[in-house]
Amino acid sequence: MILCANPKEQYLTHKTEIQNAINKVLESGWYILGQEVKLFENEFSNFVGTKYTISVASGTDALFLALKALNIGTGDEVITVSHTATATVSAIKATGATPIMVDIEKEYFTIDIEEVKKRVSNKTKAIIAVHIYGQPCDMDALIKISNENNIDIIEDCAQASGASYKGKELGSIGTLGCFSFFPTKNLGAIGDGGAITTNCEKLYNKLLKLRQYGWDENRDSEFSGYNSRLDELQAAILRVKLKYLKQDTKKRNDIAKLYYEALKNSSLILPKVRDNCYHSFHLFVVRLKNRNQLKEYLKSKNILAMIHYEKPVHLQEAFTINHDLNCTENIAGEILSLPMYPELSEKDIKYISTKCLEVKES
Ligand SMILES: Cc1ncc(COP(=O)(O)O)c(C=O)c1O
Repeated sequence: MILCANPKEQYLTHKTEIQNAINKVLESGWYILGQEVKLFENEFSNFVGTKYTISVASGTDALFLALKALNIGTGDEVITVSHTATATVSAIKATGATPIMVDIEKEYFTIDIEEVKKRVSNKTKAIIAVHIYGQPCDMDALIKISNENNIDIIEDCAQASGASYKGKELGSIGTLGCFSFFPTKNLGAIGDGGAITTNCEKLYNKLLKLRQYGWDENRDSEFSGYNSRLDELQAAILRVKLKYLKQDTKKRNDIAKLYYEALKNSSLILPKVRDNCYHSFHLFVVRLKNRNQLKEYLKSKNILAMIHYEKPVHLQEAFTINHDLNCTENIAGEILSLPMYPELSEKDIKYISTKCLEVKES
């Protein structure tokens, strides 16, 4: 079976280096908040181009703690999209704030700026810009809204490690950038992990405390915090993989090129990359009316295509809202993620494309 994402292939590619990194941590006897975490945070800050990185236990925690660092809670509103992983919205809910889900732009799958403008109120404290599939949001427009209304922008970069907007690495543009290192992500650990990036020293110091019981250097809690730490093993593994992130993102873009070429005359609507942006192609998402038919056909040919996401967050019981998000709902019925990971061979890409062409639009 050709998988949609394949973290095991990536492990095998760097097996010796990863095993050596794991052994080094095992032998060190220091497993939480040690040298590896410190080095990873420095290296990740260098990669993203921010002054600071605070590693945490997951991408969901990164979003939750970012919101907490901005003092967001009950009575506040946070604008984001419904076309995202549930985590984006559940992190907002967990703070007690109200998620305001708006529609997306059909061309790029990212937050619709005009819809954001309609929903900004004096309760709006932040906008979570989700760079879905690795596609950068319209950051200039969001920063303008942010400046005009004194609203913070949190970038949800869970799917966008390695992507950039007008030459700036994602995660370095908003007040805070939130990353997930879930194993299938572009920079994936071998377990859970996440990070927050920022240029603000005050937020950095607050986040260091928030991730560990509110402790200062004397283990004295200034305020009540949480336990959300990246462990030394994951940090060591991520340090190995971070070295290859740039070349892996290039490989993903090369695979996308092969798909574009092979599928250009098909009835599939192919993903469009925003101008002056570098997409991280976490996912290669096509659109077609008979999506389910193609998905089943590919499965019968040993190709696992997936849907990200079949049920938009606002249609799920825990998050229902009382108005439609037309574009989000229409797109959810048409999208299909074709296999995409750096180790995918040219032969497999040709095979997948050929099978896609065998299903005609009904
Ligand atoms: C867009 C988005 N935001 C947030 C998350 C949450 O990350 P994690 O699974 O590491 O908690 C994910 C990952 O599933 C995601 O894709």
